[in-house]
Amino acid sequence: MKVTEVKNICCIGAGYVGGPTMAIIALKCPEIKVTVVDVNQNRIDAWNDEDLTKLPIYEPGLADVVKECRGKNLFFSVDVDKAIDEAEMIFISVNTPTKSYGKGKGMGADLKYIELCARQIARVAKNDKIVVEKSTLPVRTAEAIKSILDHTGSGVKFQILSNPEFLAEGTAIEDLKNADRVLIGGDDTPEGKDAIEALTRIYAHWIPRERILQTNVWSSELSKLTANAFLAQRISSINSISALCESSGANVHEVAKAIGADTRIGGKFLKPSVGFGGSCFQKDILNLVYIAKSYNLHEVANYWEQVIIMNDYQKSRFAENIISTLYNTVSGKKIALLGWAFKKDTNDTRETASMFVADILMSDLADVYAYDPQVTEEQMINDLIYLNTRSEDENRKHLHKGVDPYETCKDAHAIAILTEWDEFVGYDWKRIYENMMKPAFIFDGRNILPHDELRKIGFLVKSLGVG
Ligand code: NAD
Ligand code: UGA
Repeated sequence: MKVTEVKNICCIGAGYVGGPTMAIIALKCPEIKVTVVDVNQNRIDAWNDEDLTKLPIYEPGLADVVKECRGKNLFFSVDVDKAIDEAEMIFISVNTPTKSYGKGKGMGADLKYIELCARQIARVAKNDKIVVEKSTLPVRTAEAIKSILDHTGSGVKFQILSNPEFLAEGTAIEDLKNADRVLIGGDDTPEGKDAIEALTRIYAHWIPRERILQTNVWSSELSKLTANAFLAQRISSINSISALCESSGANVHEVAKAIGADTRIGGKFLKPSVGFGGSCFQKDILNLVYIAKSYNLHEVANYWEQVIIMNDYQKSRFAENIISTLYNTVSGKKIALLGWAFKKDTNDTRETASMFVADILMSDLADVYAYDPQVTEEQMINDLIYLNTRSEDENRKHLHKGVDPYETCKDAHAIAILTEWDEFVGYDWKRIYENMMKPAFIFDGRNILPHDELRKIGFLVKSLGVG
């Protein structure tokens, strides 16, 4: 098999990764036709909406790229078979959530969507193709995909590459345009090397060749899980120190600055928070833990599991601190949450710390009002339904989306900052103070507000990690 020139790309999965990644490939490779397909008709309709504010993903800079390429060499469709048939290269970018049933429940990755894609490619393909794993997958998944594709009996040959994605939400476009590195894993055979080269040529349109790393498939698959585990580990590490700072009188920002100045440690990913959220850190670490256990490497598994345990501790510690500070109960009290998305500049709420904090407060019978510039009330309610602590009716009774920040904070006993949206800093905090119950508490889970100024206004401010 020799696919030398790629003219048609298909990407299965039009989500947070498939959409932005393919938009950038289309932008940088105008000679390639890129078709992004999905089984979710609503999502595809939103990608095709004339009104670019209705794209299914909120991501700075994305609408401009879609505007430039859509209808020229970037297409969104539900016709998966047609796109597979036409493409020389197929990216699989479907979701790989933590398994919620059976063997590996709560830990291993659920690969049913990946398997469905492989079976569909096997059924439809009439000529040789390169299949690229873009989703984050457990090490050695390519083996399973290969086994399905190699037994079609159709004579069609496939090469499987691993090309994990490292973009972060909120900065996806910038991350894709200026990736620190692109990782491509493939077989160490002449056909494998050709396939690696074909994908390398695509990225080389805008990424310098020395930043395109070529490895074997297993190293590439495992590097993605490892990268996320290391990033999350830094957050859990600094969050653990934030608890120690609060007890000892140290200041976590001073500590983070002091340690980050050591170039061996570095200053990034040392921001203490109410806990990391997002669709991947927890899922990928659980997956790593599961894989280590399956190889009987129990010390390795326990080591990484601690990152999750620390994150859970940070989320509940924050919520319980609100309850204990408010005289040991929030029953019947209005608590305002500013921010619901798992980080700023995204509408994604998967595993957001906000839902866990809201849930703990609601279990203490608080009336929670949440405001987020990009998240709807339905999304907030769905997150609580996912947690499955109480009935949907009870969730709707105790959680409301505030119309605007001022209304959200009016008559509240306390405000908790849960997402670091820039706009929170510029609010009229004097006006907010005047309309709150007194004493007026602020729990800044992101440490973004000017605490000294707020204290001058009269707020009682609890900063994370400051003794
Ligand atoms: P997502 O849920 O936003 O999108 C996945 C899409 O795949 C959905 O729209 C779903 O309808 C579609 N899909 C599922 N099965 C399908 C099938 N058989 N045929 C056609 N469409 C199908 O997920 P995401 O956030 O884009 O993540 C995708 C993968 O990328 C995951 O493995 C994730 O771990 C990884 N990843 C995500 C990020 C991120 O920032 N979200 C970053 C790097 C890697
Ligand atoms: C993360 C990685 O950064 C990406 O490289 C990776 O591709 C992606 O996961 C993935 O595989 O899905 P993402 O989850 O989108 O990206 O966003 P991050 O910026 O990593 O933030 C994750 C969480 O950690 C957020 O809740 C954020 O607020 C929190 N965080 C981040 C901190 O609490 N402190 C920090 O210093 C940095």
